[in-house]
Amino acid sequence: MPNSNKGAMVALAIAMPASVWLLYLWFLHNNRGAADRKRLDQGNHECEVLSNSMYEAMESVRRWEGCRKNPGHCNFIPITEFSITDLPESYQIPEVFDLIKNVSARTVRIRVNYTSPARPEDYVFSDSRGKYIPHVGSGWIRDLEKRYGPCRCPECDGQATPFKQWWLVRVYTCSHVVFDTKEAQSTMVDVFYESEASRKNGEMMTMPGFKVTYRDEDHDSCKFYCITHDEELIKKLTVYTSKWEKIPKALMAMESLCVVVSHPHGRSKLVTVGELKDWKDEVFGVSQIYSTATCGGSSGAPVIIPRRRGDGSGWVPTMFPHSQALVNGLNMSAVGAARSY
Ligand SMILES: *[C@@H]1O[C@H](CO)[C@@H](O)[C@H](O)[C@H]1NC(C)=O
Ligand SMILES: *[C@@H]1O[C@H](CO)[C@@H](O)[C@H](O)[C@H]1NC(C)=O
Ligand SMILES: *[C@@H]1O[C@H](CO)[C@@H](O)[C@H](O)[C@H]1NC(C)=O
Ligand SMILES: [Zn+2]
Ligand SMILES: [Zn+2]
Repeated sequence: MPNSNKGAMVALAIAMPASVWLLYLWFLHNNRGAADRKRLDQGNHECEVLSNSMYEAMESVRRWEGCRKNPGHCNFIPITEFSITDLPESYQIPEVFDLIKNVSARTVRIRVNYTSPARPEDYVFSDSRGKYIPHVGSGWIRDLEKRYGPCRCPECDGQATPFKQWWLVRVYTCSHVVFDTKEAQSTMVDVFYESEASRKNGEMMTMPGFKVTYRDEDHDSCKFYCITHDEELIKKLTVYTSKWEKIPKALMAMESLCVVVSHPHGRSKLVTVGELKDWKDEVFGVSQIYSTATCGGSSGAPVIIPRRRGDGSGWVPTMFPHSQALVNGLNMSAVGAARSY
C-alpha cells in the first residue's frame, strides 16, 4: 500500500469517529427539537415527551432536573417512603392509607411510541400525527380477564408454541395519552415501577398494549387492554385487583383529601398530597379541581379522592384520571373525567 494511501486511511480512521459523533449530535439535536415541539403541542395537558434516542432514561432525568413547574419536586414523595404521617392529620386513618397504597400499587407508567394519524386536527399532539416521538403518561389497572387458547401477545404471535393461557389487563387513562388501538399497539405499560432500582432488580414488569375499548374525548378518558401471559405478573396484580369488584358504589359523604400517584417525567412512582378544591359541572360531566401537585408525565394518573360511605360503613376511593393543569391560581384539574375505581 503506497504511503499516501496509508496516510489517508489513518486520517479517515481518526476522522470517522468524529464525524459519526457529529452525526450523532446532530440526530440528538434534531430529535430533541421534535420532542420539544411535540411537548408544546398539548396545551395544559401533562404528558412528558422524550426524544427518540438510545438514552431515553437520561432524557427523563434531564427533564426532571430542568423542571420549571415544580423545581426540586419537594412535594413529591417516593412511593417507597410514603407513610401515613404524610397525610393531613384528620386523614391519618389506616383504612384511608391502605386505599391509597392499593391504588398506588395498580398505578402504571404508560409509554406511547407513536402518535396516531386519527387524532383530530387541533387535538393534543395533532402536529405529530404519524410520527414516532414517544410520550409518557400514567394510568391505573382496573381488572384482569383470563383467556384460554393461543396467546395473542407480540411475543407469541407467529410462534409454533404460543402460551395457552393469557390475560387481558384493563388500564384506565386519558384519551390524550392513548388515543386509539394503533397507539395502544405501540404502547408499553410498566407495572411496579416503584423506584429507580425497580428497573434493574426485576421488580418492574412490562406489558404491551393491545386494544382501546373505550374512548371519550370530551371526558378525556380511555380504557385499553394490555396483554400478557406472565403468570407471575398476574399473581402480583391479583392481590390488588380482586377486592375492587366487591366495593359498593354508593358514595355520599364529600371529602376533601386529594392524592395523586403518578410517574412525573416518566420516572418512578411518586405520591403528591393535596386538597379537593372544587368541582365543576361541565356540559359533558363533572370535573374535579384540586391543589395536588402534578408535573409532565402525570397525565392519566389516578386522582384519588377517598370518601366515607354515606352509611358510615367505611371508606371507598373515587378516582379520576388527571387531565391537565389549570392556569389560574389553582394548580391542577382533571376535567370531565369518569368516576371509577
Ligand atoms: C419506537 O419506534 C421506533 C421507530 O419505529 C423504533 O425504532 C423503536 O424500536 C420503538 N421503540 C419501542 C420501545 O417500541
Ligand atoms: C389492599 O392490599 C392488601 C395487600 O397489600 C390487601 O390485603 C387488601 O385486601 C387490599 N385492599 C383492597 C381494598 O383491595
Ligand atoms: C401551585 O404550584 C406552585 C408550585 O408549583 C405552588 O407554589 C403553589 O402554591 C400552588 N398553588 C396552589 C393553589 O396550590
Ligand atoms: Zn416536574
Ligand atoms: Zn404471549
